[in-house]
Amino acid sequence: MRVTSLPLAALGLAGSVVTHPFGETEAVLGRQSQTQQKADAVKEAFQHAWNGYMKYAFPHDELHPVSNGYGDSRNGWGASAVDALSTAIVMGNADAVNTILDHISKIDYSQTSEQVSLFETTIRYLAGMLSGYDLLTGPASDLASKKDNVDNLLTQSKNLADVLKFAFDTESGVPYNNLNITSKGNDGSTTNGLAVTGTLALEWTRLSDLLGDDSYGKLSQKAESYLLNPQPSSGEPFPGLVGSNIYISNGEFGDGAVSWNGGDDSFYEYLIKMYVYDPKRFETYKDRWVLAAESTIKHLQSHPEPRPELTFLSSYDNGNYDLSSQHLTCFDGGSFLLGGSVLDRQDFIDFGLKLVNGCEATYNQTLTGIGPESWGWDPKQVPDSQKDFYERAGFYIESGYYVLRPEVVESFYYAYRITGSEVYRDWVWNAFVAINATTRTDSGFATVTNVNAKGGGSKVDNQESFLFAEVMKYCYLTHAEDAPWQVQRGDKNTFVFNTEAHPMRVKHT
Ligand SMILES: *[C@@H]1O[C@H](CO)[C@@H](O)[C@H](O)[C@H]1NC(C)=O
Ligand SMILES: *[C@@H]1O[C@H](CO)[C@@H](O)[C@H](O)[C@H]1NC(C)=O
Ligand SMILES: *[C@@H]1O[C@H](CO)[C@@H](O)[C@H](O)[C@H]1NC(C)=O
Repeated sequence: MRVTSLPLAALGLAGSVVTHPFGETEAVLGRQSQTQQKADAVKEAFQHAWNGYMKYAFPHDELHPVSNGYGDSRNGWGASAVDALSTAIVMGNADAVNTILDHISKIDYSQTSEQVSLFETTIRYLAGMLSGYDLLTGPASDLASKKDNVDNLLTQSKNLADVLKFAFDTESGVPYNNLNITSKGNDGSTTNGLAVTGTLALEWTRLSDLLGDDSYGKLSQKAESYLLNPQPSSGEPFPGLVGSNIYISNGEFGDGAVSWNGGDDSFYEYLIKMYVYDPKRFETYKDRWVLAAESTIKHLQSHPEPRPELTFLSSYDNGNYDLSSQHLTCFDGGSFLLGGSVLDRQDFIDFGLKLVNGCEATYNQTLTGIGPESWGWDPKQVPDSQKDFYERAGFYIESGYYVLRPEVVESFYYAYRITGSEVYRDWVWNAFVAINATTRTDSGFATVTNVNAKGGGSKVDNQESFLFAEVMKYCYLTHAEDAPWQVQRGDKNTFVFNTEAHPMRVKHT
């Protein structure tokens, strides 16, 4: 059972466009106002979560939306506020924007009692501030009430990067991820992961370009150079598809385990996004993405036995394929669509739409209308309790959690922007309605334990900051008017989204 029709009726939108009694213009106008009402409904959800965060958790990192408490899982610098900034900007929410700007001016990034993740801090805090700066000095310059606060976004970005940059001070230049910023120490790892190494270049390069100081970008690009030229050859089992762990001592790959899942994911995402950011400087990144995309179509696409029309991505290690995937992996459709559109490759667009369809199937088949955290389709591994579900759905659920992740609506958003087809917009709306119906609490939105149980099973007392940065933004932008920060077709992008959905101004405009 899905809840799609209920809220439409509740919003007074029940009369569908097809049955509109008037002419075509009225039908188009009807659809426009319906879309406007949906955009407003997403704003309402954002405001609900923002109010709850302000009341119970600000300036801590995140709201505990069941107990109305708070957590500081991201070093206590106010992660939800910083992560919410670019969404508040694209929604035109001046109150939230100015509250967040006042807060950011006061953060002391040199102080924390916890270990700091270079990756998480880069994609949430650094990108949140850089995106705010790009938007508020550009197309959203009317929103900030104090100009100093806007300038502070760049100053604080530099302050943060100066705190973090010792991470790259290793023999190879491959950074440590887990840092002690007080002692300038690290957790003693000998390797760093593919995604955490390969998801820094956009932010650190943008910072350099804004400051006119290439040192920050160079640090991230040096680390990335080992990923672009993988050694030894066992680290690249298929052209462009590389292993998961890199030795910090010498930049060599420690394995050849290949996937687009969590841990590897945004390395591939950034290869094509760096090219969108600056096609002159990052052509090599694009060439590597093309190789990876072609190898993925050739070697990793997989079709469940009961529903061969569905496409998922398997992972590969040492001759074995693992037939399972994750919510996190579902950014893949968006990546193929962006790359296909920018490079004018219809084969990539077509494949991206197949991946989008596969991810929609994981939402479509559950009781809540939300897809699971992870699932499998290996006929030899189907749990007895899920035999019927597997036959009908084409997959079985490995983890039924939904932790407020964005990747499925993210790829629907790309599919809508790039094809213009209303189908994908409807899918975003269906997902939004289901998320709102299943995870909402009195103060925000909560992780749920079982997307295939009535009401989502039970609620877990956490609301990740990416609810604000990503879920709300993609659901809103799908229904919002065209704007400079929206994803565009072909070479028309003036912004590119980091992996946390913070839009950065591209270099060549
Ligand atoms: C979201 O949930 C709230 C609270 O139940 C409800 O009032 C609102 O109509 C919902 N929005 C949509 C679009 O379903
Ligand atoms: C970081 O190092 C300082 C100084 O050695 C130490 O007091 C502190 O406990 C460390 N912090 C963490 C999170 O390990
Ligand atoms: C699932 O998707 C199919 C195919 O697009 C559609 O016909 C069906 O209505 C969807 N089911 C739900 C519950 O959304």
